Amino acid sequence: MSYRRCGRSGLLLPAISLGLWHNFGAVDSYDHARAILLRAFDLGITHIDLANNYGPPPGSAEETFGRILREELRSHRDELLLSTKAGYRMWPGPYGEWGSRKYLVASIDQSLRRMGVDYVDIFYHHRPDPDTPMEETMGALDFIVRSGRALYAGISSYSPDETRAAVAILRQLGTPCLIHQPVYNMFNRWIEPGLLQVLEAEAVGCIVFSPLAQGLLSNRYLEGIPQNSRAAKPHGFLRPEEITPEKRRAVQELYTLALARGQTMAQMALSWVLRHAAVTSALVGASSIEQIQENARAPAAAPFTPQELEAIDRITGQTARDHGG
Ligand SMILES: NC(=O)c1ccc[n+]([C@@H]2O[C@H](COP(=O)([O-])OP(=O)(O)OC[C@H]3O[C@@H](n4cnc5c(N)ncnc54)[C@H](OP(=O)(O)O)[C@@H]3O)[C@@H](O)[C@H]2O)c1
Repeated sequence: MSYRRCGRSGLLLPAISLGLWHNFGAVDSYDHARAILLRAFDLGITHIDLANNYGPPPGSAEETFGRILREELRSHRDELLLSTKAGYRMWPGPYGEWGSRKYLVASIDQSLRRMGVDYVDIFYHHRPDPDTPMEETMGALDFIVRSGRALYAGISSYSPDETRAAVAILRQLGTPCLIHQPVYNMFNRWIEPGLLQVLEAEAVGCIVFSPLAQGLLSNRYLEGIPQNSRAAKPHGFLRPEEITPEKRRAVQELYTLALARGQTMAQMALSWVLRHAAVTSALVGASSIEQIQENARAPAAAPFTPQELEAIDRITGQTARDHGG
């Protein structure tokens, strides 16, 4: 595994990180989840990403992780970089979601209990809150770090303007914003025209989620919807109607390009997000040991040629931007 510096901080992240959004809930096999996570760690994937609501049911992915840590990895805590988040609905009533200090502090305490740890390495605000003053939310992140519940603060899915504002407030408070977590993949380019430049200018790291578009950018759905896939699961966030004939055709064409590069489709999709110097890590999910092994090899690939980048833009129906090199 290669490790990349997170913004201008002292922290290095693995080029591939593992998220426990799917496949680590109480509905999933504990033994299987444990096997995937331990294999990932053995491959040098030192960063594990969670959130209060991952499951199902919400909270159970943190419990699964806590059990694996307790039973298998206790002596390796300092080799692991652990993150969690709060922002989406977690418990009933007015204090169970969004961005108030009340919610965020209660949520991190619940997360620490579920995982059985004294602190997480990164705590994120999971989504911007249009109604809570940014000063309150950032003040809560600063408090969470100063009180020892987290070592670093991060934000997720904030727009470029919101990011600039959050980074400025956190800097003033003395707790720099370590990292931003946005969605980014060949089909979803929203970070290219603004956010990446803000992160580069502010020297904030960037870990991109769903780099495989939840599995679409792999060979998983070329022949249909496999029974054990995310799109087939009732609680899976990828809906079958999102796997359109156009997307399938595009992936088929991209797959030919990947093979010519000596990569699998999933590996090319991961190398592609990592081509930006501003992207610190690609945050993948996995439902098998084979998938995580395949994904872990992506960072070793050759750089893209301008012709390959143009072909990817053409196939995915995107206009090339100045940031693709
Ligand atoms: N901040 C946020 O708001 C936010 C939102 C979403 C996600 N996240 C984070 O990002 C993480 C990753 O998101 P994601 O799971 O959507 O990422 P993803 O890597 O785009 O999708 C993962 C899925 O792709 C399939 N897959 C993975 N490797 C494969 C391979 N080599 N070949 C074929 N299929 C492969 C698997 O699907 P099957 O299960 O069908 O096998 C896997 O569950 C989450 O766990 C979470 O930590 C954050």
